[in-house]
Amino acid sequence: MITQHDIVIVGAGLAGLRAAVECVGQADVAVVSKVFPTRSHSGAAQGGITASLGNEEEDQWEWHLFDTVKGSDYLSDQDAVEMMVRDAPRVIYELEHMGVPFSRTKEGKIAQRNFGGHTRDYGKRPVKRACYAADRTGRVVLDTLYDQCLRHQVKFYSENYLLSLVSDGKKFGGVVTYDLATGELRLLQAKAILLATGGCGRIYKTTSNGFASTGDGLHLAYQSGIPLEDMEFIQFHPTGLYPLGILVSEAARGEGGFLRNRLGERFMERYAPTVKDLAARDVVSRAILTEMREGKGISGKDYVHLDLTHLGEEKILEKLWEITSFVRIYLGIDPVYDPIPVQPTCHYLMGGIPTDLDGRVLLDEKGSTAHGLFAAGECACVSVHGANRLGCNSLLDLLVFGRRSGLAMKKTIRQYDHGPLPKDPLQRVEERIKKLFNSKGEEKVDEIRRKMQLVMMKMGSVFRNEEGLKDGIEEIRSLKERYKNIGVIDRRKVFNFELMEAMEFAHQLGLSEAILFSALHRRESRGAHYREDFSGRADRYFLKHTLVYETSKGPEVRYKPVRITRFQPEARVY
Ligand code: FUM
Repeated sequence: MITQHDIVIVGAGLAGLRAAVECVGQADVAVVSKVFPTRSHSGAAQGGITASLGNEEEDQWEWHLFDTVKGSDYLSDQDAVEMMVRDAPRVIYELEHMGVPFSRTKEGKIAQRNFGGHTRDYGKRPVKRACYAADRTGRVVLDTLYDQCLRHQVKFYSENYLLSLVSDGKKFGGVVTYDLATGELRLLQAKAILLATGGCGRIYKTTSNGFASTGDGLHLAYQSGIPLEDMEFIQFHPTGLYPLGILVSEAARGEGGFLRNRLGERFMERYAPTVKDLAARDVVSRAILTEMREGKGISGKDYVHLDLTHLGEEKILEKLWEITSFVRIYLGIDPVYDPIPVQPTCHYLMGGIPTDLDGRVLLDEKGSTAHGLFAAGECACVSVHGANRLGCNSLLDLLVFGRRSGLAMKKTIRQYDHGPLPKDPLQRVEERIKKLFNSKGEEKVDEIRRKMQLVMMKMGSVFRNEEGLKDGIEEIRSLKERYKNIGVIDRRKVFNFELMEAMEFAHQLGLSEAILFSALHRRESRGAHYREDFSGRADRYFLKHTLVYETSKGPEVRYKPVRITRFQPEARVY
């Protein structure tokens, strides 16, 4: 089945939906989503969205810019960050006008709260910059944007899984999807395609990411010859609910909660004397794991306590209802009276598909652009987060660059028509599915995937070193060999999740290798990438972005410069 649209957006999280809202009415736009749109992972974002509104205390976009650059350990491109933070207040008022039910101050203004790394006067004191709707900010923004899309009659292909990008390597003319409900393949031809497919946190055993975050769009781009940027920078959020990894929002610390070790010590006072529990996430995650390594985890186990008990029931229930209910349901304890067991959890990919400021995908370190292909959101790297993202800058990134991609796609579709398609774009995909169905292989996805997740936790998470990274790459390569012998038991066409997971898993393996390979070649520590064998930041050699390419001999890394406009790198002290 071939269907034509002007624009096809893959992914129905905040970046995809914001782009759709921008284009609908002026273009024939369709959104493809592997889950039902309101189940997209953006809905799991809890704590807020940054903007220097100054509703609670003085704030300036220049301070937001400084914090983001410092938080990124000076690896973000500062022109992109400036564009994002200057646009932030407009984004918030736009959301308010669309109907997002933000929490309010006593005077009725949009309420703002503290978050890690958000400061005033260039790092002097914490500032309330995160606009929020209790601790379900992503949820309400996602529902509101979906509502806007329905209102404007955006066409949705829900529960359609992206199987391939149709291209000759430079021009992108469509996508092939697999309709989970019917098992049918669909070729959607488009003049412009936006990848807004999210991150790949499910590569790790402990993660806050939803089941759909398997990195399909990232890996399909990589396989199409597009490099992936800064893949070594994987953020571990300090407070995942132990042992499940579910996010316990940083808002809990923003509202006054703090971390304690086995001895009851507020150990962040030692690691970040100025902002303590509100230091950047990479700093707090390393501190927690260091405490555990020193035997100061609670009961000698792999967690510490997040203590909210001093905040009082009223505040906890009003501002942190969502996490309170998770903790009650999953652990059977009550954060009003009991400290919450937490451990660092894989949360966010800072790197991704390289783009320019308008979401156009970049093909190489010289900045050549791919024709017809755009990317926005967590799967993209523009790069505003550099080596470490600050909390609440992610929703902002999705909305700013989702919209900008929409604007740029509208221009593109006016200039170009649907191009010719390569011969029979469905054939390769059909063959892949047939091969999986006909395979007599005895390997099962579930077992090899568990191994991959353990390898990534051990060798590619918060602490890394050369030996571990080399071993990790070898182990992933041997899992790739085992994958060739994979078998699928379920042969049905309808809702065949076993088949989908088998295809997702190939993407996860490819991305795991790209992450470890990029990390091996960055012989320094910066942001979320901490090398025990190179513990300092080495600006002289590594103040540059990694680009990893897939070649017939395996991954290859090249580099491109960081764009520095205002803030020269300094030591990062919190
Ligand atoms: O902790 C949180 O609420 C997460 C926010 C974010 O990752 O931006």
